[in-house]
Formats: sequence, C-alpha cells, structure tokens
Amino acid sequence: TILRYESLPSTNTEAANQARRGAPEGLCIVARVQTRGRGRQGRTWASPPGAGLYFSIVLRPRIEARWWPLLSLLGALASRDALREACALVADIKWPNDLLVEERKIGGVLAEVIETELGRACILGIGLNLRDGALPPEIRATATSVERVSGEAPNTETVLQALVRAIADWYGALHAPAGPERICREWEASSSYAFNRRVRATVGSETIEGLTRGLELDGALRLETEDGRIERIYSADIVSLRGV
Ligand code: ATP
Ligand code: BTN
Repeated sequence: TILRYESLPSTNTEAANQARRGAPEGLCIVARVQTRGRGRQGRTWASPPGAGLYFSIVLRPRIEARWWPLLSLLGALASRDALREACALVADIKWPNDLLVEERKIGGVLAEVIETELGRACILGIGLNLRDGALPPEIRATATSVERVSGEAPNTETVLQALVRAIADWYGALHAPAGPERICREWEASSSYAFNRRVRATVGSETIEGLTRGLELDGALRLETEDGRIERIYSADIVSLRGV
C-alpha cells in the first residue's frame, strides 16, 4: 500500500506513527513536500515541494538483530537501482547512506528502528532529488539532482515504482540464505568508498583516519589505520566520513 500526502513534517515520522499503531510491513508513505525532513544526526533534509521523492517504508524484518544495520545499506542499493532503471543514472554510494553523482549528493537514506505493538520495526526513509530548481542555495554546491545531471526531470511515479520494486527484491534477498553476504558484496561492488579509499571518520568525539577495507557482514566499514590495525565503524555512531 502506498499512502500519498501533499505535505508532511517527515515521511519517516508519519510511517513510524502508523507502525506504532500496528501498520503492516510494506506500508509506504510518500509526500510531495516535507516541512521537517530529517537526515542523520538530527540534520535537516531539504525537501522543497515537487523537487524530490520523499519516501518511507515500514519493515518488520525477520532476521537476527545483528543484521539490522544492513537495512540502511539495502536502502542505498535499492536507491541506486531505481536511479539506474528509472533515470539511466549511475550513482556511487558513499558509506553509509549517501548517493552521489559527480561527487555531489543526489539522495540519502535514513533507517530508524522503533518499538511497536507488533514488535521492533525499521522505518526505511529515502530522499532523492529529482528536480533542481527548488533546492535551497546553501546546498547547491554539494547537492545535485537527476534533472541537473541528465538534463531531464524524471517522472516521480516512475522512480517511486522502480524504488519499491528494488526494495522488495533486496529485502527478499536479505531473508534468503546467505542474504547478509549478498548485500555486503553487492554494496562493495557499488561503492567507490568500499576499498583503498583514504577517509577520515568522526566517531563521537574521536577521529579515525585510514584506508577502507570493505565491509564486515554486519555492515560495519573496516578502516586500516596507519599502524596496521583494523577499526570497525558503525553507521549509528558516525558523525561524519570524508575522503582525504
Ligand atoms: P557525512 O559526513 O556522512 O558526509 P553528510 O554531510 O552527508 O554527512 P547527512 O546526515 O548524511 O550528512 O545528510 C544531511 C546533510 O545533507 C545536510 O546537513 C545537508 O548538508 C545535506 N542536505 C540536506 N538536504 C539535502 C538534499 N535535499 N540534497 C542533498 N543534500 C542535502
Ligand atoms: C541523510 O543523508 O542524512 C539521509 C536523508 C534521508 C531523507 C529522507 S526523505 C524521506 C525520509 N523522511 C525524512 O524525514 N528523511 C528521509
């Protein structure tokens, strides 16, 4: 089921409220505009009317707790597939949740875990910039849109259908034997950040610099530091990750 709204504070907040009241797995919430779109770490996600796809889905995964961090990576994979199928665009994935085209951010994924009367649920939120015009000036330099990079504004509905299909496919894969392995390997193949990329990660108040060495099966990014140690960093803890 896809519920469409003209305006919401945040599709993630609305999906979470409905999930708490018992909404079934697969319920999708879409808004034409968000007045309080959210990113990671309480940041703001600019969501001007009609400029993007603002989407959230209620998931009730039947997988071990240790695999739940993979849901955010699954969201990034599905977004990449949707941009390829609906817009003929190849997006890079920056760990953990950014979609980049020409090194600028075209989309983002926000996975939130909540408790509901039917047990624990994940609200998987995805924002994709489809049109450029209405993006606020302060993010023009770091953000981009499908319209800007391909010269053509896509049909929002076509992107939405491709996204829902891709989420269903990857979600099925996650529940199949060796699911976590498949998600991680596919993610590694889709991200220029997966291997041999020098990055600086801010984790809490600590900074870790190192070369990326792929993913652990639970979705942690492996960083090899100067002294040869492997540090594992988790998306929930990370404040920022930059290439250096
Ligand atoms: P990281 O350090 O992981 O790169 P980030 O700067 O990408 O972090 P996120 O929390 O992943 O931060 O995303 C939120 C940020 O994205 C905002 O602080 C803002 O700079 C930028 N942003 C907000 N809205 C949009 C948008 N519609 N398109 C692209 N970028 C946006
Ligand atoms: C990020 O890059 O920090 C993640 C951005 C996620 C934005 C989407 S838009 C739909 C859903 N509702 C929200 O409030 N956030 C997510």
